[in-house]
Amino acid sequence: MILTVTLNTALDLTYRVPRLDVHGSHQVREVTERPGGKGLNVARVLAALGHATTVTGFAGGRTGAELRALLGEEQGITDALVPIGGSTRRTVGVVDESSGDATQLNEPGPHITPAEWASLLGTYAELLRGDGTAEAGNSPVEAVALCGSLPPGVPVGAYAQLIREAHAAGVPVVLDTSGEPLRRGLAARPDLVKPNATELAGITGTTEPLRAARAAQRRGAHSVAASLGSQGMLLVTPDGTWQAGPPRSIAGNPTGAGDSAVAGLLSGLVEGLPWPDRLARAVALSAATVRAPTAGEFDEEVHNDLLARVKVEEHSEPAPD
Ligand SMILES: Nc1ncnc2c1ncn2[C@@H]1O[C@H](COP(=O)(O)OP(=O)(O)OP(=O)(O)O)[C@@H](O)[C@H]1O
Ligand SMILES: [Mg+2]
Repeated sequence: MILTVTLNTALDLTYRVPRLDVHGSHQVREVTERPGGKGLNVARVLAALGHATTVTGFAGGRTGAELRALLGEEQGITDALVPIGGSTRRTVGVVDESSGDATQLNEPGPHITPAEWASLLGTYAELLRGDGTAEAGNSPVEAVALCGSLPPGVPVGAYAQLIREAHAAGVPVVLDTSGEPLRRGLAARPDLVKPNATELAGITGTTEPLRAARAAQRRGAHSVAASLGSQGMLLVTPDGTWQAGPPRSIAGNPTGAGDSAVAGLLSGLVEGLPWPDRLARAVALSAATVRAPTAGEFDEEVHNDLLARVKVEEHSEPAPD
C-alpha cells in the first residue's frame, strides 16, 4: 500500500461559471465538492492507477466530517485521518468556461495543537509498522508521499521528522512542499522531491532548472523532479538526468497537475520502473490532469494518447556550475 500524508486537507469546492467578471454577479452552472489537499489528490490518482492507497493527515469540524463522508465513497482509498478540534478548511475554485482558466481561493488551515500533532505521529508510526486499522494497516507501506503546506501549529521541521521515521522503517519518501518545510525536509534526505519552478527557485535562489535541481540535490534530496508547467519536467537522479515535455501544451485547469506528477513518479517507484518510464508517466498523467476539470482526476484518453508520444531525452552535459 502507498501512504500519502496531507497535513492541510481541504474540502474543495469547484464552481463553473460561463465567464468570470471581477465585481460581477454569476450564475453557477455546476458545483462539485471533493476531498482535497495535495496528498488526497495524489491518492485519488494512485487509486485510479490501481494502487491501494491510505491517506493520513488531519480532519475536523463539519467540513472534516463531510470530507470523510465523501472519501468513504471513493474506491481504493483508506481513510486514516486523525480527528482534530478545529474545522477543516475549504477551498473554492471558480472555473471560467469561456477561457477554461481557474481562480482559486484557499482558506487558511485550522490550528493544530501539540496533542493533535502527537496523535498524527502515533498514527503514522502505526501505519509504518503495519499495525494500523485492520483495513489500512495490514498491508506494508511501500512508499510515502508527504504533500503540501503545513497548517499553523505543526512544527516547521515536521516533514524532516516524518522522512526520518519512514527511512527508519525502510520506506522511501517523496516530498512535495515549498519554503521552509521543503528546506528542512531536504536535510532529512528524501528519496525524491517534486518542486515546481517557483518552489525550486525559492529554496535555491536560481531560476535555471538544471542548476537549481542540482542545488536541491546538494541540500539533501537523492533525486529531484522539477516540474516546469507546460514545459514538462526535468529529472535529476544519481543514475542520470532526463527531461520530458508533453507533445503539446494542454488548455484547461492546471491545479493538481503537480499532484498527478507525484502520483506518476510514486507509482513508477513502487512498480520498479526505470527512471525514464516514471518520467514519461508523470508527464502524460499531469498533462491529462490539466484537461480534467478538477484536481485529482485525469482524462484517460489524453493520458493514453500522450503516454505513447512523450519523448524522454537524456542530458549528458555536466552541470552548469
Ligand atoms: N498546460 C500544460 N500542458 C501540458 N502539461 C502540463 C501543463 N501544465 C502543467 N503540465 C504538466 O504538469 C506538471 C506539473 O505542473 P506544474 O509545474 O504546474 O506543477 P505544480 O505547480 O506543482 O502544480 P500543483 O501544485 O497545482 O499540482 C508539469 O511538469 C507538466 O508535465
Ligand atoms: Mg505543486
